[in-house]
Amino acid sequence: MSISKQLTVFSGVQPTGNFHLGNYLGALTQWLDLQHKYHSIFCVVDYHAITVPQNAANLKRQVLDIAKIYLAAGINPRRALIFRQSDIAEHTELAWILNCAVARMSDLNKMTQFKDKAGSKNASVGLFDYPVLMAADILLYQTDIVPVGEDQLQHVELARDLAKRFNQQFGHAFTIPEAKINKEGARIMGLDDPTKKMSKSAASPANYIALLDKPETAVKKIKRAVTDSGSDIKYDVKNKPAISNLLTIYSLLANKSIKELERKYTGKGYGDFKNDLAEVVSKFLTDFQIKFHNISDRQVAKIFSQSAKKLRPIARTTLNKVKTNLGL
Ligand code: TYM
Repeated sequence: MSISKQLTVFSGVQPTGNFHLGNYLGALTQWLDLQHKYHSIFCVVDYHAITVPQNAANLKRQVLDIAKIYLAAGINPRRALIFRQSDIAEHTELAWILNCAVARMSDLNKMTQFKDKAGSKNASVGLFDYPVLMAADILLYQTDIVPVGEDQLQHVELARDLAKRFNQQFGHAFTIPEAKINKEGARIMGLDDPTKKMSKSAASPANYIALLDKPETAVKKIKRAVTDSGSDIKYDVKNKPAISNLLTIYSLLANKSIKELERKYTGKGYGDFKNDLAEVVSKFLTDFQIKFHNISDRQVAKIFSQSAKKLRPIARTTLNKVKTNLGL
Protein backbone atom coordinates (compact mmCIF):
# COMPACT_ATOMS: atom_id res chain seq x y z
CA MET A 1 0.00 0.00 0.00
CA SER A 2 1.37 3.41 -0.88
CA ILE A 3 1.70 6.08 1.80
CA SER A 4 -0.99 8.22 0.17
CA LYS A 5 -3.55 5.41 0.48
CA GLN A 6 -2.63 4.61 4.06
CA LEU A 7 -5.02 5.71 6.78
CA THR A 8 -3.89 8.73 8.75
CA VAL A 9 -3.65 8.76 12.55
CA PHE A 10 -3.51 12.05 14.44
CA SER A 11 -3.33 12.76 18.14
CA GLY A 12 -1.84 15.26 20.57
CA VAL A 13 -1.03 16.10 24.16
CA GLN A 14 -1.00 19.45 25.89
CA PRO A 15 2.40 20.54 27.22
CA THR A 16 0.98 21.42 30.61
CA GLY A 17 1.25 19.83 34.05
CA ASN A 18 2.62 16.41 34.61
CA PHE A 19 2.26 13.79 31.89
CA HIS A 20 0.93 10.83 33.87
CA LEU A 21 0.12 7.15 33.67
CA GLY A 22 -3.42 7.99 32.50
CA ASN A 23 -2.06 9.85 29.46
CA TYR A 24 0.36 7.01 28.81
CA LEU A 25 -2.10 4.13 29.16
CA GLY A 26 -5.11 5.92 27.64
CA ALA A 27 -3.42 7.50 24.61
CA LEU A 28 0.28 6.86 24.08
CA THR A 29 0.19 3.06 24.24
CA GLN A 30 -2.27 3.16 21.32
CA TRP A 31 0.06 5.37 19.32
CA LEU A 32 2.94 2.93 19.83
CA ASP A 33 0.91 0.27 18.13
CA LEU A 34 -0.67 2.42 15.39
CA GLN A 35 2.61 3.97 14.21
CA HIS A 36 3.56 0.60 12.69
CA LYS A 37 0.41 0.40 10.58
CA TYR A 38 -0.58 3.92 9.57
CA HIS A 39 0.65 7.34 8.52
CA SER A 40 0.98 8.71 12.05
CA ILE A 41 1.16 12.30 13.21
CA PHE A 42 1.65 13.25 16.86
CA CYS A 43 1.42 16.84 17.93
CA VAL A 44 2.49 18.85 20.97
CA VAL A 45 -0.44 21.23 21.21
CA ASP A 46 1.11 24.41 22.56
CA TYR A 47 -1.68 26.67 21.26
CA HIS A 48 -4.06 24.64 23.39
CA ALA A 49 -1.76 25.13 26.37
CA ILE A 50 -2.11 28.91 26.24
CA THR A 51 -5.88 28.73 26.73
CA VAL A 52 -4.87 29.04 30.39
CA PRO A 53 -2.04 31.30 31.67
CA GLN A 54 1.48 29.92 31.17
CA ASN A 55 4.96 30.97 32.20
CA ALA A 56 7.02 31.44 29.00
CA ALA A 57 10.19 29.62 30.09
CA ASN A 58 8.20 26.80 31.60
CA LEU A 59 6.04 26.38 28.49
CA LYS A 60 9.10 26.20 26.27
CA ARG A 61 10.58 23.50 28.53
CA GLN A 62 7.33 21.51 28.66
CA VAL A 63 6.95 21.50 24.87
CA LEU A 64 10.38 19.89 24.52
CA ASP A 65 9.70 17.48 27.38
CA ILE A 66 6.42 16.23 25.91
CA ALA A 67 8.19 15.45 22.64
CA LYS A 68 10.90 13.64 24.63
CA ILE A 69 8.18 11.66 26.40
CA TYR A 70 6.78 10.56 23.02
CA LEU A 71 10.26 9.47 21.95
CA ALA A 72 11.24 7.79 25.21
CA ALA A 73 7.96 5.87 25.22
CA GLY A 74 8.86 4.44 21.82
CA ILE A 75 7.43 6.70 19.14
CA ASN A 76 9.87 6.26 16.30
CA PRO A 77 10.53 9.51 14.42
CA ARG A 78 11.27 7.48 11.29
CA ARG A 79 7.75 6.10 11.36
CA ALA A 80 5.74 8.94 12.88
CA LEU A 81 5.87 12.70 12.52
CA ILE A 82 6.24 14.52 15.83
CA PHE A 83 5.61 18.25 15.59
CA ARG A 84 4.74 21.41 17.47
CA GLN A 85 1.31 22.85 16.74
CA SER A 86 2.48 26.49 16.67
CA ASP A 87 4.98 25.63 13.90
CA ILE A 88 2.12 25.24 11.44
CA ALA A 89 0.03 28.40 11.17
CA GLU A 90 -2.73 26.59 9.28
CA HIS A 91 -4.06 25.20 12.59
CA THR A 92 -5.22 28.58 13.84
CA GLU A 93 -6.26 29.68 10.37
CA LEU A 94 -8.55 26.68 9.94
CA ALA A 95 -9.86 27.08 13.50
CA TRP A 96 -10.98 30.62 12.66
CA ILE A 97 -12.71 29.47 9.50
CA LEU A 98 -14.49 26.62 11.34
CA ASN A 99 -15.50 29.11 14.05
CA CYS A 100 -17.27 31.24 11.51
CA ALA A 101 -18.54 28.71 8.99
CA VAL A 102 -19.77 25.74 11.04
CA ALA A 103 -19.11 25.90 14.80
CA ARG A 104 -22.01 27.18 16.85
CA MET A 105 -22.20 28.56 20.38
CA SER A 106 -24.74 25.83 21.12
CA ASP A 107 -22.14 23.15 20.17
CA LEU A 108 -19.52 24.56 22.49
CA ASN A 109 -21.96 25.18 25.32
CA LYS A 110 -22.40 21.39 25.48
CA MET A 111 -18.70 20.62 26.05
CA THR A 112 -18.33 19.09 29.49
CA GLN A 113 -14.58 19.74 29.75
CA PHE A 114 -15.12 23.47 29.44
CA LYS A 115 -17.78 23.33 32.12
CA ASP A 116 -15.39 21.40 34.41
CA LYS A 117 -12.42 23.71 33.78
CA ALA A 118 -13.93 27.15 33.43
CA GLY A 119 -14.87 27.90 37.01
CA SER A 120 -14.28 31.64 36.80
CA LYS A 121 -15.30 34.68 34.80
CA ASN A 122 -11.63 35.02 33.90
CA ALA A 123 -11.72 31.95 31.65
CA SER A 124 -10.34 32.94 28.24
CA VAL A 125 -12.37 32.92 25.04
CA GLY A 126 -9.71 30.50 23.77
CA LEU A 127 -10.60 28.00 26.49
CA PHE A 128 -14.22 28.06 25.33
CA ASP A 129 -13.10 27.67 21.70
CA TYR A 130 -10.53 24.97 22.50
CA PRO A 131 -12.55 22.12 20.86
CA VAL A 132 -12.68 23.98 17.54
CA LEU A 133 -8.89 24.29 17.45
CA MET A 134 -8.75 20.58 18.23
CA ALA A 135 -11.12 19.91 15.31
CA ALA A 136 -8.83 21.98 13.08
CA ASP A 137 -5.80 19.91 14.23
CA ILE A 138 -7.55 16.71 13.24
CA LEU A 139 -9.22 17.86 10.01
CA LEU A 140 -6.17 19.59 8.48
CA TYR A 141 -4.44 16.26 7.85
CA GLN A 142 -7.50 14.37 6.53
CA THR A 143 -7.29 12.19 9.63
CA ASP A 144 -9.07 8.84 9.76
CA ILE A 145 -8.24 7.70 13.31
CA VAL A 146 -7.84 9.74 16.51
CA PRO A 147 -6.47 7.59 19.35
CA VAL A 148 -7.37 9.25 22.66
CA GLY A 149 -8.59 8.60 26.20
CA GLU A 150 -12.29 8.59 26.95
CA ASP A 151 -12.34 12.21 28.15
CA GLN A 152 -11.62 13.43 24.59
CA LEU A 153 -14.49 11.52 22.94
CA GLN A 154 -16.87 14.45 23.02
CA HIS A 155 -14.27 16.67 21.33
CA VAL A 156 -13.64 14.15 18.55
CA GLU A 157 -17.41 13.86 18.05
CA LEU A 158 -17.51 17.62 17.58
CA ALA A 159 -14.71 17.42 14.99
CA ARG A 160 -16.79 14.83 13.11
CA ASP A 161 -19.90 17.00 13.25
CA LEU A 162 -18.06 20.11 12.05
CA ALA A 163 -16.47 18.16 9.18
CA LYS A 164 -19.82 16.72 8.08
CA ARG A 165 -21.50 20.10 8.29
CA PHE A 166 -18.76 21.76 6.26
CA ASN A 167 -18.75 19.06 3.59
CA GLN A 168 -22.53 19.29 3.26
CA GLN A 169 -22.84 23.05 3.19
CA PHE A 170 -19.73 24.05 1.27
CA GLY A 171 -18.60 20.97 -0.66
CA HIS A 172 -16.33 18.15 0.33
CA ALA A 173 -13.11 19.23 2.05
CA PHE A 174 -12.60 16.88 5.00
CA THR A 175 -12.27 13.18 5.81
CA ILE A 176 -14.62 12.27 8.67
CA PRO A 177 -12.39 11.14 11.56
CA GLU A 178 -13.14 8.48 14.13
CA ALA A 179 -12.03 8.30 17.74
CA LYS A 180 -10.18 5.21 18.90
CA ILE A 181 -10.39 4.32 22.58
CA ASN A 182 -8.54 1.55 24.41
CA LYS A 183 -10.69 -1.23 25.88
CA GLU A 184 -8.70 -1.00 29.10
CA GLY A 185 -7.03 2.17 30.34
CA ALA A 186 -9.36 4.60 28.54
CA ARG A 187 -10.07 6.25 31.86
CA ILE A 188 -7.43 5.79 34.54
CA MET A 189 -8.72 7.12 37.83
CA GLY A 190 -7.01 9.22 40.50
CA LEU A 191 -5.03 7.35 43.16
CA ASP A 192 -6.46 9.64 45.83
CA ASP A 193 -10.05 9.36 44.60
CA PRO A 194 -11.10 6.52 42.27
CA THR A 195 -14.30 8.34 41.34
CA LYS A 196 -12.37 11.09 39.50
CA LYS A 197 -10.03 10.64 36.54
CA MET A 198 -6.27 10.91 36.94
CA SER A 199 -5.55 14.48 35.88
CA LYS A 200 -2.51 16.63 35.05
CA SER A 201 -4.17 19.57 36.72
CA ALA A 202 -5.17 17.73 39.92
CA ALA A 203 -4.79 19.82 43.07
CA SER A 204 -2.78 17.11 44.83
CA PRO A 205 0.20 15.21 43.36
CA ALA A 206 -1.18 12.17 45.23
CA ASN A 207 -3.76 11.98 42.41
CA TYR A 208 -1.33 10.89 39.71
CA ILE A 209 1.89 9.13 38.92
CA ALA A 210 3.83 11.33 36.53
CA LEU A 211 6.19 9.64 34.09
CA LEU A 212 8.88 11.93 35.44
CA ASP A 213 8.13 11.24 39.13
CA LYS A 214 11.11 9.85 41.00
CA PRO A 215 10.55 6.09 41.26
CA GLU A 216 10.70 6.31 45.08
CA THR A 217 8.00 9.02 45.04
CA ALA A 218 5.81 6.82 42.85
CA VAL A 219 6.30 3.90 45.25
CA LYS A 220 5.07 6.07 48.12
CA LYS A 221 2.08 7.24 46.10
CA ILE A 222 1.05 3.64 45.34
CA LYS A 223 1.42 2.60 48.96
CA ARG A 224 -0.75 5.53 50.03
CA ALA A 225 -3.32 5.07 47.25
CA VAL A 226 -6.90 4.87 48.45
CA THR A 227 -8.28 1.32 48.67
CA ASP A 228 -11.81 -0.06 49.03
CA SER A 229 -13.47 -1.76 51.96
CA GLY A 230 -12.89 -5.51 52.24
CA SER A 231 -9.58 -7.12 51.42
CA ASP A 232 -10.08 -9.12 48.20
CA ILE A 233 -8.13 -8.24 45.07
CA LYS A 234 -11.11 -8.35 42.69
CA TYR A 235 -11.95 -6.36 39.57
CA ASP A 236 -15.36 -4.84 40.29
CA VAL A 237 -15.58 -1.21 39.16
CA LYS A 238 -18.88 -0.54 40.91
CA ASN A 239 -18.07 -1.93 44.35
CA LYS A 240 -14.26 -1.81 44.28
CA PRO A 241 -13.32 1.18 42.12
CA ALA A 242 -9.93 1.78 43.74
CA ILE A 243 -8.62 -1.79 43.45
CA SER A 244 -10.10 -2.10 39.95
CA ASN A 245 -8.14 0.98 38.89
CA LEU A 246 -4.91 -0.35 40.42
CA LEU A 247 -5.53 -3.73 38.76
CA THR A 248 -5.92 -1.99 35.39
CA ILE A 249 -2.64 -0.11 35.82
CA TYR A 250 -0.85 -3.27 36.95
CA SER A 251 -2.30 -5.34 34.11
CA LEU A 252 -1.33 -2.85 31.39
CA LEU A 253 2.17 -2.15 32.70
CA ALA A 254 3.06 -5.77 33.42
CA ASN A 255 1.25 -7.12 30.36
CA LYS A 256 -0.69 -9.63 32.50
CA SER A 257 -4.44 -10.11 32.26
CA ILE A 258 -6.63 -8.95 35.11
CA LYS A 259 -7.88 -12.54 35.58
CA GLU A 260 -4.27 -13.71 35.96
CA LEU A 261 -3.63 -11.03 38.58
CA GLU A 262 -6.81 -11.87 40.49
CA ARG A 263 -5.65 -15.49 40.63
CA LYS A 264 -2.15 -14.50 41.74
CA TYR A 265 -3.51 -12.47 44.66
CA THR A 266 -6.23 -14.84 45.84
CA GLY A 267 -5.90 -15.11 49.61
CA LYS A 268 -3.41 -12.23 49.73
CA GLY A 269 -4.12 -8.70 50.98
CA TYR A 270 -3.82 -5.17 49.68
CA GLY A 271 -0.33 -4.83 51.19
CA ASP A 272 1.21 -7.61 49.08
CA PHE A 273 -0.61 -6.40 45.97
CA LYS A 274 0.55 -2.81 46.42
CA ASN A 275 4.15 -3.85 47.11
CA ASP A 276 4.29 -5.74 43.82
CA LEU A 277 2.52 -3.00 41.87
CA ALA A 278 4.93 -0.43 43.33
CA GLU A 279 7.82 -2.55 42.05
CA VAL A 280 6.30 -2.81 38.57
CA VAL A 281 5.72 0.95 38.40
CA SER A 282 9.16 1.76 39.77
CA LYS A 283 10.86 -0.42 37.17
CA PHE A 284 8.76 1.07 34.39
CA LEU A 285 9.65 4.63 35.45
CA THR A 286 13.34 3.86 35.87
CA ASP A 287 13.63 2.37 32.37
CA PHE A 288 11.55 5.15 30.86
CA GLN A 289 13.55 7.93 32.51
CA ILE A 290 16.90 6.55 31.36
CA LYS A 291 15.64 6.86 27.79
CA PHE A 292 14.09 10.28 28.44
CA HIS A 293 17.32 11.75 29.78
CA ASN A 294 19.28 10.45 26.80
CA ILE A 295 17.35 12.64 24.36
CA SER A 296 18.70 16.15 23.81
CA ASP A 297 16.79 19.38 23.17
CA ARG A 298 18.64 19.64 19.85
CA GLN A 299 17.37 16.26 18.71
CA VAL A 300 13.82 17.37 19.45
CA ALA A 301 14.29 20.71 17.65
CA LYS A 302 15.51 18.85 14.58
CA ILE A 303 12.56 16.44 14.63
CA PHE A 304 10.11 19.35 15.02
CA SER A 305 11.56 21.18 12.05
CA GLN A 306 11.76 18.13 9.78
CA SER A 307 8.19 17.09 10.60
CA ALA A 308 6.80 20.58 10.06
CA LYS A 309 8.45 20.68 6.65
CA LYS A 310 6.66 17.46 5.67
CA LEU A 311 3.31 18.43 7.18
CA ARG A 312 2.96 22.03 5.96
CA PRO A 313 2.12 21.05 2.36
CA ILE A 314 -0.63 18.66 3.57
CA ALA A 315 -2.10 21.35 5.83
CA ARG A 316 -1.86 23.92 3.04
CA THR A 317 -3.66 21.66 0.56
CA THR A 318 -6.61 21.19 2.93
CA LEU A 319 -6.76 24.87 3.78
CA ASN A 320 -6.66 25.93 0.13
CA LYS A 321 -9.56 23.62 -0.63
CA VAL A 322 -11.53 24.99 2.33
CA LYS A 323 -10.86 28.59 1.26
CA THR A 324 -11.82 27.89 -2.34
CA ASN A 325 -15.09 26.27 -1.23
CA LEU A 326 -15.91 29.34 0.82
CA GLY A 327 -14.99 31.82 -1.88
CA LEU A 328 -12.00 33.18 0.01
P1 TYM B 1 -4.56 15.96 27.24
O1 TYM B 1 -3.23 16.61 27.10
O2 TYM B 1 -5.45 16.40 28.36
O3 TYM B 1 -4.40 14.41 27.37
C1 TYM B 1 -3.61 13.66 26.48
C2 TYM B 1 -4.25 12.31 26.22
O4 TYM B 1 -4.36 11.58 27.44
C3 TYM B 1 -5.70 11.10 27.59
N1 TYM B 1 -6.02 11.07 29.02
C4 TYM B 1 -6.37 9.97 29.70
N2 TYM B 1 -6.54 8.69 29.32
C5 TYM B 1 -6.90 7.80 30.28
N3 TYM B 1 -7.08 8.12 31.58
C6 TYM B 1 -6.92 9.41 32.01
N4 TYM B 1 -7.09 9.71 33.27
C7 TYM B 1 -6.55 10.39 31.05
N5 TYM B 1 -6.31 11.71 31.12
C8 TYM B 1 -5.99 12.11 29.87
C9 TYM B 1 -6.55 12.11 26.83
O5 TYM B 1 -7.80 11.57 26.47
C10 TYM B 1 -5.66 12.41 25.64
O6 TYM B 1 -5.82 11.43 24.64
N6 TYM B 1 -7.46 18.12 23.83
C11 TYM B 1 -6.42 17.14 24.01
C12 TYM B 1 -5.19 17.42 23.16
C13 TYM B 1 -5.46 17.60 21.70
C14 TYM B 1 -5.78 16.55 20.77
C15 TYM B 1 -5.89 17.20 19.51
C16 TYM B 1 -5.94 15.18 20.90
C17 TYM B 1 -5.43 18.76 21.00
N7 TYM B 1 -5.68 18.52 19.70
C18 TYM B 1 -6.23 16.47 18.37
C19 TYM B 1 -6.27 14.45 19.75
C20 TYM B 1 -6.40 15.09 18.51
C21 TYM B 1 -5.99 17.16 25.46
O7 TYM B 1 -6.13 18.14 26.14
O8 TYM B 1 -5.34 16.06 25.85
